[in-house]
Amino acid sequence: MEATAAGRLRYSRGAIILHWVTALFVLFNLVTGLFHHAIPKGIWAFHVSSGITILALTLIRILWRVMHPRPPYLPMAAWQRAMAHGVHFLLYCALLAAPLTGWAMISASVPRPAMQVAVDTAAPQPGPPPKPRQMRVWGVIPLPKLAPIVAIGEQPGGAEKLRAAHATFEARHGAVAWILIGLLALHIGGALKHQLIDRRRALARMGIGRPEPV
Ligand code: HEM
Ligand code: HEM
Repeated sequence: MEATAAGRLRYSRGAIILHWVTALFVLFNLVTGLFHHAIPKGIWAFHVSSGITILALTLIRILWRVMHPRPPYLPMAAWQRAMAHGVHFLLYCALLAAPLTGWAMISASVPRPAMQVAVDTAAPQPGPPPKPRQMRVWGVIPLPKLAPIVAIGEQPGGAEKLRAAHATFEARHGAVAWILIGLLALHIGGALKHQLIDRRRALARMGIGRPEPV
């Protein structure tokens, strides 16, 4: 919480920066995820890096939030306060669940057999089969596959089990994304209602405009 010399209340500067940077990455991931068949491959490639960045930012943000409590809510009905609180909590859950299910999904991808690679590249590959490419976040930080999920593929009949796990994580990833969209509709709708209908400076609490005095 930040109480300025003028006695105004708003979220701490760190919380405001983390909020808006995360919001930009989330918007990018929702758009690239929902339209991934339509967007250029080069842009889709950033979906994973952006998603892992959201995971890291959210972990930092939760830590920051524990150390810097939020300012008291604007005056509102108890049910509205409870709802705002619940939606914020669920937003944090979704900001963790979306990247984790995505990471689980790519960890469950079945490596393509060498023959298939040769067919796809239309030329017989001499020597040992190519190693699967190491996934890197923003092309720099290696992103390992999640070990417990890789272990599924090492069991007898592993490829089938891994395919089933991939389908499950894919479905969960999509479901979490839609839950996130629903939560954002409530969240943004609530903020705009306080700002435009109740005429309170709600957005200023998150850094847009001058906050109300205490
Ligand atoms: C992808 C987008 C977004 C995400 C994931 C998100 C997430 C969150 C979360 C988790 C909080 C709670 C902070 C805390 O108490 O720890 C919050 C607060 C807030 N957000 Fe967002 N937000 C997003 C977009 C927006 C947008 C577009 C607006 C403006 C229309 C907005 C306005 C606010 C405001 C005003 C608060 C402070 C609420 C209060 O008065 O306590 N957010 N946001
Ligand atoms: C907050 C973070 C994320 C959001 C909001 C998000 C959102 C989405 C959405 C909306 C889709 C389309 C789902 C569908 O068609 O049903 C999608 C697909 C996908 N996401 Fe994410 N995603 C996030 C993070 C990640 C991460 C971290 C990874 C990987 C490490 C990932 C990997 C994928 C993949 C591989 C697909 C394509 C699935 C398919 O082929 O159908 N996502 N994502």
